[in-house]
Amino acid sequence: MSGTRYRIEVMHGVNLDQLGRRDPGLYGTLTLSELERQVEGDARELELDARFFQTNPEGDFVERLHRLDGHADAILLNPGAWTHYAWAIRDALEIAALPAVEIHLSDVHSREPWRRLSVIADLCFATIAGQGPAGYRAALTLLHARLERGEA
Ligand code: DQA
Repeated sequence: MSGTRYRIEVMHGVNLDQLGRRDPGLYGTLTLSELERQVEGDARELELDARFFQTNPEGDFVERLHRLDGHADAILLNPGAWTHYAWAIRDALEIAALPAVEIHLSDVHSREPWRRLSVIADLCFATIAGQGPAGYRAALTLLHARLERGEA
């Protein structure tokens, strides 16, 4: 541990504020607040500072990405359905130019074919899908290791 507290922006996109009402077989039973609380605890154990953001309007997600400069060291993002078609979010993620991990609660690769395309995957150094909330801890661990190595 270097003593540095890295700042992780945890970003949820469209419809993820509805966790708890969505199919529990795919997304589990936690609400977004409960998920965020769990992620916050996991981050604290790894000595990371997590900050949380969720929005449904796509432009707000884009603008948040524009404003991360100087406020975050890395991004953990679950853009929801935007993952599969929102090229503007891809461009904004590229502009943010921070190490990023893509995460999904469900296994997007074994669902409908349209969920297999991710327009952000190649901008992220890892993708975690289908591990439910536990995947977030795995993602934080990857981000921590990446930041400790000092890689962009
Ligand atoms: C999701 C998967 C997406 O395909 C879907 O549109 C979501 C949630 C997930 O976390 O599994 O809204 O990103």
